[in-house]
Amino acid sequence: MQVREAIGAGDGLTRERLRSLQLERLRATLEHAYAHSPFYRRSFDAAGVRPADCRSLADLARFPFTTKDDLRENYPFGMFAVPRERLRRLHASSGTTGQPTVAGYTARDLEVWAEVMARSIHAAGGRPGDRVHVAYGYGLFTGGLGAHYGAERLGCTVIPASGGMTARQVRLIQDFAPEVIMVTPSYMLTLLDEFERQGVDPRGTSLRAGIFGAEPWTEEMRREIEDRCGLDAVDIYGLSEVVGPGVSQECVETKDGLHVWEDHFYPEIVDPETGDPVPEGTHGELVFTSLTREAMPVVRYRTRDLTRLLPGTARPAFRRMEKVTGRSDDMIILRGVNLFPSQIEEIVLRTPGLAPHFRLVLTREGRLDRLTVRAEARPGTTPEQRAAAAAALADAVKDGVGVSVGVDLTEPGTLERSAGKQQRLLDQR
Ligand code: DLL
Repeated sequence: MQVREAIGAGDGLTRERLRSLQLERLRATLEHAYAHSPFYRRSFDAAGVRPADCRSLADLARFPFTTKDDLRENYPFGMFAVPRERLRRLHASSGTTGQPTVAGYTARDLEVWAEVMARSIHAAGGRPGDRVHVAYGYGLFTGGLGAHYGAERLGCTVIPASGGMTARQVRLIQDFAPEVIMVTPSYMLTLLDEFERQGVDPRGTSLRAGIFGAEPWTEEMRREIEDRCGLDAVDIYGLSEVVGPGVSQECVETKDGLHVWEDHFYPEIVDPETGDPVPEGTHGELVFTSLTREAMPVVRYRTRDLTRLLPGTARPAFRRMEKVTGRSDDMIILRGVNLFPSQIEEIVLRTPGLAPHFRLVLTREGRLDRLTVRAEARPGTTPEQRAAAAAALADAVKDGVGVSVGVDLTEPGTLERSAGKQQRLLDQR
């Protein structure tokens, strides 16, 4: 009980009490941003709104959005709302398109981040005294250090493995016997392959819980990892612009989407085309306003991640967000059909004879775009089984998604493995 209190697990917190706390913190955030960030002063002035115009949570919709381009244009320090000497840490996200975005933290911001990460690890089943193997990358990426300080805050023993050196990771897991692993789901698959290559059954390890995020992954992937490793696999979400990992977390007892830690991060869902708020429970683009950030408050930050909000379950005061199935900028429009890499992941993982590794290759022939699914055969499959798997994959994509794709089935172990976020799409047009 003491632990749950220390990390703000929300026991006894009612929705009503939470909403009044949110409004209080929201108003303070808007005041702080307007008073101390030249960017927000300009942006509120241009939209004709003042912090005092926010009298209810619904009034937030009157305030302008903040986008990734705003962050890029204010690179490196233009978004900060505290004097430079109050910053205790900087992180940066490289993104896919050149110009990085920067995140800054005060001492208090780092405290809050460690607290929400401790809360997340606890919700995933981690307990004080557990050993936590962190294989998210350490460095400018927020995954490694975010997980690290959260695990320490909860009272766990951290093994700061970072990403890469896969054979050594497998050795460390056997020698140090961690109960919890924190890593991207795609790198977890790489680790599982390495266990098997070394002739070690991953089901025999001490691992009890896996906290996987930083990229989209499906229910099929959850089953694959749980079956092969004998642990509970849960989802963690976050983004550097808002804090890093620990914005929302799936609870191990329900595994039904991610509880948003709404006492620190206020979520909205908007129509990605018009920007209008959508009715509760409807799919759209996730938007976040920070409620307690000092160094870099964000107001209505457009994540481009697509999901919907649902009522709380295991933590009733906190709403859940459904697993993020894709980003608006990951969507492939193929001959008029919208398609996300996660839809292909579902099908690849369901198809017998295929390993859980794949890439999507987009090419252009004449005026026509072509999509090829490059998939990998499971070890030990016969040529006949492989031919059948390739045909089954093409058929399932045609039936389930409604487009014809090519299939390029490669030998086991040939697709390059990731040590962090997996880039699924190779656009060769
Ligand atoms: O990926 C923070 C993080 C680290 C989250 C470790 C979880 C675990 P960024 O590098 O700024 O931060 O990337 C943020 O990654 O907008 C999503 O598109 C995607 N993403 C993060 N978590 C998930 C998830 C970190 N659980 C971007 N499911 C976000 C789907 C995710 N996508």
